[in-house]
Amino acid sequence: MAVEKSLFGYINENEPVYLYKITNESGAHVTLQTLGAGIQALYMPDRNGKFSDVVLGFDNPSDYLNPDYGYQGLVVGRWANRIRDGKFTFKGEECRTPQNQGTWTLHGGGRFSFTNWEVEETGEDFVVFRRFSPDGEDGFPADFTMRVKYTLTNDNILRIEYGVLSDRDTVANPTNHAYFNLSGDDEKTIEGHYLEIPADYFTETDESQLPTGELGEVKGTMMDFTYAHKIGDMIDTPFRAIIDGVGYDNNYCLKNKSGAFELAARLEDRESGRRLEVYTDLPGIQLYCGGWLSRDYTAGKGANIVKFRRGVALETQFYPDTVNFPEKFPFRYVKANKEFKTVTEFRFTTI
Ligand code: BGC
Repeated sequence: MAVEKSLFGYINENEPVYLYKITNESGAHVTLQTLGAGIQALYMPDRNGKFSDVVLGFDNPSDYLNPDYGYQGLVVGRWANRIRDGKFTFKGEECRTPQNQGTWTLHGGGRFSFTNWEVEETGEDFVVFRRFSPDGEDGFPADFTMRVKYTLTNDNILRIEYGVLSDRDTVANPTNHAYFNLSGDDEKTIEGHYLEIPADYFTETDESQLPTGELGEVKGTMMDFTYAHKIGDMIDTPFRAIIDGVGYDNNYCLKNKSGAFELAARLEDRESGRRLEVYTDLPGIQLYCGGWLSRDYTAGKGANIVKFRRGVALETQFYPDTVNFPEKFPFRYVKANKEFKTVTEFRFTTI
């Protein structure tokens, strides 16, 4: 195994974006990009050993810069998902973050995902990306360095280790925003994929998808993925936590509130036989099925187009807007000069 570097293309006219490809012994491979420390392609075998790309994305690096295209495969920070009114108080300091959507902050609100990251180190089977974010960038406190290490193992695990170092206490909620489609079929949506999420509760939200602070019980509702069933079974059921026409875009409360490393989701395409299991030490996972992506989009990778419900994002995270519910929602913050760490794994097998 070795990491191969190549030029992807240019953003902002003449700024190069590079790709780093890691191939394992079985031929499975991941292509990472310096832009947003993102996953650009991920080839995994079906039950007959046929490799297909299981993540959505683009041929043209500039397309990744368009937030309407949904942060395809990019690392999101400093704070994933929403912050009500773009403000919170942390350790007595009032912080104001960009209101880049409606009146709230989405995905940090700034350029965190949309810049080239440095490559700090590569090895046989890993790449480490790094981004420095100065004190006050997008309103967040502290000089802040995030490192993201991707490792592809020989047993088809893509491990993502996030590390944050800051010069004073601050907050962080890193995630990766890959959209999976395990079918290897350019036409299929993810409605036929089977999904299981071991969570009895989800965070209740208002009409702007901002947490109210209450938890809703999944039992007896379309939100229940405690048993495996097709994503499409109930996706268009009218329900208070769902925006009509969009479908799932909700945070599930995982059981590992204490930071144990546990199963967070199991996704299967039973036709191809590909199975993905997501493991994390974080307490939440956002299930987002690409319902905000337009049916009319035409950009993608060849005929594999980024559009309505073509991919499902399984974003491990602290619950959205935890910065405004630090006592109520499970949380740990970044302590000065002490590395804050979190790990997520995408484990691929076949059935
Ligand atoms: C959010 C969606 C958003 C998507 C792309 C998800 O994490 O919950 O509302 O459309 O990211 O930005």
